[in-house]
Amino acid sequence: MKQELIEKARAVIARNDRGHYTVPTHGLYPFQWNWDSALSALGIAHFDETRAWTEIETLFLHQWEDGKVPHIIFHEPDDGYFPGPEVWATARNVPTSGITQPPVTGFAVRRIFDRARDKAMAEKRARALLPRIHGWHKWFYRNRDPQGTGLVAIIHPWESGRDNSVDWDDALARVPTEAVGDFQRRDTSHANPAHRPTDEQYKRYIWLVQHFRSLGWDNSKLHDASPFRMVDPDFNAILIRSCSDLADLAERLGESEIAVESREFAERGIKAIDSLWHEGLGQYVCYDRVAAKLIDSPSIGGILATFCAVPKPRAEALAARIAKLGESARFMVPSHDPTAPEYDGLRYWRGPVWLIVNYMISDGLKVAGQDAMARRIDADSIRLIEKGGFAEYYDPVTAEPCGGSNFTWTAAMVIEILNSEKTPA
Ligand code: GLC
Repeated sequence: MKQELIEKARAVIARNDRGHYTVPTHGLYPFQWNWDSALSALGIAHFDETRAWTEIETLFLHQWEDGKVPHIIFHEPDDGYFPGPEVWATARNVPTSGITQPPVTGFAVRRIFDRARDKAMAEKRARALLPRIHGWHKWFYRNRDPQGTGLVAIIHPWESGRDNSVDWDDALARVPTEAVGDFQRRDTSHANPAHRPTDEQYKRYIWLVQHFRSLGWDNSKLHDASPFRMVDPDFNAILIRSCSDLADLAERLGESEIAVESREFAERGIKAIDSLWHEGLGQYVCYDRVAAKLIDSPSIGGILATFCAVPKPRAEALAARIAKLGESARFMVPSHDPTAPEYDGLRYWRGPVWLIVNYMISDGLKVAGQDAMARRIDADSIRLIEKGGFAEYYDPVTAEPCGGSNFTWTAAMVIEILNSEKTPA
C-alpha cells in the first residue's frame, strides 16, 4: 500500500515536471511557484537528489537584485492563468510576479542537506545557495520590518500563501476597488468557483498589484505605501525556522558570518512572535499594522507558528488547540475553526485542510515533543489522500477533494510523510 501510494505520488510529480522546475498542477497553475517548489523539492529528493537541488536553484536564478525571491516565475507563456506577466509588468528578462511568498527554502535546503545520500554534491549545491537564501532573509528584515520589531509584514494576501483567509477580510475591505478595470479570471474555469476566492476579493487583489506597479515595484517604498500590512504568525514562523536552519547549515559549512546573522534574526523573531499570542483563543493571531491591532480570527496561521521554536508551554497549548478543532473536524487540521461563523469547508483557505500545512505543523510538534498529535495529523493526511487522491485541499469534515487535482506539493508531502521514519525531527 505504502509503495503503491509513493508510486502514484511520483507519477503526479512526473506529470508536472518541466525539467528544471515543477508546476503546482497542469492547467490551473502553469508556472513555477515559490513555496510550492521549496516544499516539493523535499519529496523529490527521496528519489532524485539532483533534480531536487535543481528545483530550488531554478527558483533562485530569478531572485531580484535587491534580494527578493518572487512568488511566481513565468517561465513559458501560458494564457490559462490570471494575472499574467503583463499585469505584473515587472520588466524582468524572464517575467516574474512582483510580490513574494513564505520563505520556507532555508528549512527545505537544510533538510535535504541533512538527509543527502550524495554528500559531496549536497555540500557544493547548499554552499552556493546559502548566500542567496540569506540575501532573501535580509531583504525581508530590511524591507518588511522598517521599524525593527523583529517581525515582518506581508503587503498582499497572496504573499501569505493563504490567499483568501478570513484573517485578511477586514484589512482587505480597506483596499479600494475603483480604477480596477475589467478582467477575466481564469482560475474559475479550471476549478469549481465555490472552492475559490470571490470576485470581490479578486478586485482588491488586483488593485494592490496595480498600486505596487505604479510605484515601480520599488521595495523600499511598498511596505509603507500599502494599505494592507499584516504581520502573519505563520509567515513569520516559517521565516524564523528558515533563519535558524540556515544558521545551523552555515555553521556546518564554515560560513560564520551568515551563521551569526541568521541566528540573530531567529532569536529576535522568537521573542517578538510572542506579541501575537491570543490568550482567549489559545493560539497566535495576525497583527494588522495599519489598524494597529490584533485580529481576532481563529485560523491555521496562528497554529502553524509551531513550526518555529516557540516556548514549550505555547507548543503544548497549540497541541490542545488542535485537539479542540478535532471535536468538529474529522480530518486535521482545518485552515479555519469549523465553529467560527466565517468557516467554509470548501472554500480554499477558509476551512479546508492543506497537506503542506499539516506537514509543517506536524514537524513543529515533533520538535516540541508533541508526538501523539503529530502522528494523528500525519495519519489524517494519508487518509485524505487514500480517499480523495492528490488534491489541492480537502473538506475537513467530508474529506471531499477540492480545487485542482494532481497537485505536486500534495504528492511531495505524501512521499515525505511516508518516509518520515527516516526524517530526523
Ligand atoms: C494558491 C495557494 C498558494 C500556492 C499557489 C500554487 O495561490 O494559495 O499557497 O502557492 O496556489 O499552488
